[in-house]
Amino acid sequence: MFETIEKEILASQKETKKILIIGLGQIGYSNAEYMTKLGLHVEGLDINKEAIHRALQHNVIQKEATNFYGYDYYIICISTHNPENMFMPFLEGIYSIVKRISKEGKTGALVGIDSTITRGTSKKLESILGHRLHVVHVPHRFYIHEKETHGVNQPRVVGGCRPCCTEAAFGFYQKMLKIPLQTVNSVEIAEMTKIVENSYRFMEIAFAEELKIICDRTNIDFEGLRQAVNSKWNINVLEAKEGIGGHCLPKDSQMLLNISNEILPYSIIETAKKIDSNYRLHKNPKLEIQ
Ligand SMILES: NC(=O)c1ccc[n+]([C@@H]2O[C@H](COP(=O)([O-])OP(=O)(O)OC[C@H]3O[C@@H](n4cnc5c(N)ncnc54)[C@H](O)[C@@H]3O)[C@@H](O)[C@H]2O)c1
Repeated sequence: MFETIEKEILASQKETKKILIIGLGQIGYSNAEYMTKLGLHVEGLDINKEAIHRALQHNVIQKEATNFYGYDYYIICISTHNPENMFMPFLEGIYSIVKRISKEGKTGALVGIDSTITRGTSKKLESILGHRLHVVHVPHRFYIHEKETHGVNQPRVVGGCRPCCTEAAFGFYQKMLKIPLQTVNSVEIAEMTKIVENSYRFMEIAFAEELKIICDRTNIDFEGLRQAVNSKWNINVLEAKEGIGGHCLPKDSQMLLNISNEILPYSIIETAKKIDSNYRLHKNPKLEIQ
């Protein structure tokens, strides 16, 4: 009986609720595509007209938004790296969007931050909004090469600024979008989760890179060594490829390094970054490292 009523409520929400995806790059586009396939009303906003054009052309959004009035869900998916240096964090875009939402956004609506942010960001955004809207961080774990298994719908962590925010996130991400959520005790844990995940990965790769340099300089077959050590049950040394690029791992580990630098005299992440720079020079001695 209750299940039927709940299903009916969800169905009516699907028809009436409006979602705004802000940032239609890899994450935003995939989110919009997923939500549209579920039959939801999705609109989009991006500073890049090509991103809007692509989303409209492929029917993943219904229309381009020109302002922030009248939406029930504001899902922030914009890039958080410095446009001049993609290895460095840059959160100004998120702050300026939220300042606009604070003026135009619908009271009681949900602001979901899917973009990667650093510790303390969500609470600052909540204070800009004066808690007129709910604020949650639901870091994305999207992996383009495994979109089916590790795309939009995969287990994700959620942290709300307040319990009512977390509740609102459950209504949207879990009930409406069917994304399995793991609640954490504070929004700061959610913020740290993403940057720790990516820093961990960064260090694992840097370790493999260090071994590769050692092997190359001491005439040892790296692949042979890797296979040998990985035959032990609890070891998994990764491959060493082209160096750690892209706009996620370097920038996210930099977010954690910035936090670490305020507390500790030295950091394992800093060393990992130096090893990665050395490795890229080792691979390509003509390279100019940023
Ligand atoms: N791509 C991934 O695999 C992945 C996985 C997990 C988390 N993330 C995080 O998600 C966020 C987005 O990543 P992405 O890969 O989709 O980036 P992207 O560069 O593909 O897309 C970002 C989009 O945001 C738009 N944008 C930037 N500033 C804006 C602003 N002020 N207003 C409106 N639009 C703006 C850009 O024009 C672009 O279209 C980042 O924080 C990233 O770290 C990405």
